[in-house]
Amino acid sequence: MIIVDKDQKAKITLRINGETHEVEVEPRRLLVHVLRELGYTSVHVGCDTSNCGACTVIMNGRSVKSCTVLGIEANGSEITTVEGLSKDGKLHPIQEAFWENHALQCGYCTPGMIMESYWLLKEKPNPTEEEIREGISGNLCRCTGYQNIIKAIKDAAARLNQQAYQRL
Ligand code: FES
Ligand code: FES
Repeated sequence: MIIVDKDQKAKITLRINGETHEVEVEPRRLLVHVLRELGYTSVHVGCDTSNCGACTVIMNGRSVKSCTVLGIEANGSEITTVEGLSKDGKLHPIQEAFWENHALQCGYCTPGMIMESYWLLKEKPNPTEEEIREGISGNLCRCTGYQNIIKAIKDAAARLNQQAYQRL
């Protein structure tokens, strides 16, 4: 356990997209700001009341809103942001599906939306439309009207299932 006074900084370690970072944080510093300061600026802030999901990342295998986690709480955790999805410049199937189905406009919600989709498709590889809508209900978008995001997630599911099939 780390014990620090309110005006002291604690040294924490985060593994982000496979890379280890050691940072000093005040106990009140939010994970979303720590991530952005480390250069992971895909992680966006769209609200101050935990409803928009623009700050969604995967932390220890679960999707979390990083604006509602303290940096110090995340000490020792494994985090994936959208920067960690493509491999050697090749887009992840979810990214490809968002692109091909026109599932973004301003792009501000997109990193969080893609990370939530990533988690959703790990949990449910063949989601129904209702399950997709429910699954991304913590992620707000003001541009797309959601329709193409639903199409993209269905398409991504098919692409991922095809990949799994090819690996057999
Ligand atoms: S910034 Fe809106 S939920 Fe995190
Ligand atoms: S694409 Fe603009 S908020 Fe979703």
